[in-house]
Amino acid sequence: MAILRSSVRTTDGDFVANAAAYATLRAQVAAVRHAALAGGGPKPSAAHLARNKLLPRHRINALLDPDTPFLELGQLAGDGLYDGAAPSAGLITGIGIVAGRPCMVMANDATVKGGTYYPLTIKKQVRAQAVARENALPCIYLVDSGGAFLPLQEDIFPDEQHFGRIFRNIAEMSSLGIKQIAAVMGACTAGGAYIPAMCDETVIVQGNGTIYLGGPQLVQAATGEVVDAQTLGGADVHTRLSGVADHYAHDDLHALTLVRDIVARPGPVAMTAPPLAAVPPLHDPAELPGLIPANPKQPIAAREILARLMDGSELQMYRERYGTSLICGTGAIGGYPVGVLINDGVLFSESAQKAANFIELCSQSDIPLLFLHNISGFMVGVSYEHGGIAKDGAKMVNAVSTARVPKFSMVIGGSYGAGAYAMCGRAFGPRLMAMWPNARTSVMGGEQAATVLALVRREQLARAGQDFTPEQMETFKQPIRDHYLASSSALHAASRLWVDAVVDPADTRAWLTLGLALAAASPKEDTRFGVFRM
Ligand code: COA
Repeated sequence: MAILRSSVRTTDGDFVANAAAYATLRAQVAAVRHAALAGGGPKPSAAHLARNKLLPRHRINALLDPDTPFLELGQLAGDGLYDGAAPSAGLITGIGIVAGRPCMVMANDATVKGGTYYPLTIKKQVRAQAVARENALPCIYLVDSGGAFLPLQEDIFPDEQHFGRIFRNIAEMSSLGIKQIAAVMGACTAGGAYIPAMCDETVIVQGNGTIYLGGPQLVQAATGEVVDAQTLGGADVHTRLSGVADHYAHDDLHALTLVRDIVARPGPVAMTAPPLAAVPPLHDPAELPGLIPANPKQPIAAREILARLMDGSELQMYRERYGTSLICGTGAIGGYPVGVLINDGVLFSESAQKAANFIELCSQSDIPLLFLHNISGFMVGVSYEHGGIAKDGAKMVNAVSTARVPKFSMVIGGSYGAGAYAMCGRAFGPRLMAMWPNARTSVMGGEQAATVLALVRREQLARAGQDFTPEQMETFKQPIRDHYLASSSALHAASRLWVDAVVDPADTRAWLTLGLALAAASPKEDTRFGVFRM
């Protein structure tokens, strides 16, 4: 094992300036996080509490084992969207420990438009279910929702990944023996009624919990019957008459105790201890912001990052002297073995081939993969095309796609174009994916996109016999640059659920350790690679 020793001094001017610039990025993330944690705000929260209900984050706290971490997914979803009406997309999702077992918790936030489902709410719940399935985590649905957000029904109801997929996932996970548990703590209307109805076991809270396909207003309109919500579908009805729910709870806390009791029954083993001793890096991860140049055009020193992420700052390099723009190696994080790929320049044929080989080796040894993205793309140019760089890039993408060991992606700098895909971007199934606050992702950089589009425009105008002066070209390019800048940020990506979280560099080891621990306890899958173009 090579020990990565840092050559950076924390008193260097650059280090100090970088760390100071990072504080601004952290403050931006903190502001968005603060808004997400406030949910629907004071007025709906007060109305919620007045109904003898706990707020969703309090429900989660009461559900989880004391002093255990909650790995929240998609906290920043919805930021800047839907006119700001849906913080966290009205749903809190994350992995927490219940009665000693890691579980996926999905809690509607009824203070956000009655807990109704926006398009991103669906996407977030489907994503949480996918994570639960991959890691074989019991699912706990804390239901308090008015169902579909009706004005946006066409983006919620009919399509493959829309509302129906949530119910299908419940059925499929149940069939795989992954426990599905619902606690109905508020409304559960129309399609939403299928969440508790389809779960393996359901708890319902007296007075507040209701389950029905059509609410009192709809019933009156359809049949003329006048009925109140509890008589139509409250806790008494469903635990005594209909059998739609199994357990009657007196209040939220009682419901959460019943859920804990259900999870605590004998079942699959809980988390396993790490196979290796977890040792901290030799260099403090808190120093990472000082190593990220405030000017994104300057490179990030990959070895300096690894020296602060790997256990003992140790990495056994794979082909250290070959394809050096991508560093590959095995080491551990939090005592869990991991194969790391980190960019140290653009991707060339050699680096892509090396990556494909390295992924094969890790797959053979059941070692999870961690992709640390800082990539502007594959090398372009005549000699590289003639040398078959597309073919070598395809080998890497092929290996990334079909490797069945757990994969994790962390965007630490830029992640652009085909490079983002080859480094296991979202479409390639990383179990968890996050970005550092400084990170960016888009099909190409803003300057490159502006230049490409300006050249296309110039050719069009030339065909029409018109000029495109340098001034006109500049006026044309600026809004494209601005748009790319705004839409490539980590916050932008997180608000749309392109990634699961924005993770601070200093918290990265803890975040990855949780992911690796879950993966270590999950069922293994065999890898079968496809045809590699040679
Ligand atoms: N679609 C869109 N908006 C909805 C909605 C829905 N299905 N259900 C509620 N809302 C909105 C309300 O208009 C209100 O918006 P506002 O804050 O801008 O005024 C907000 O959500 C809160 O609703 P409110 O009725 O004031 O809150 P509540 O806590 O008393 O009741 C519900 C919440 C969900 C129980 C109740 O609104 C309800 O029964 N909604 C209809 C549910 C339904 O029939 N859904 C069918 C889906 S297929």
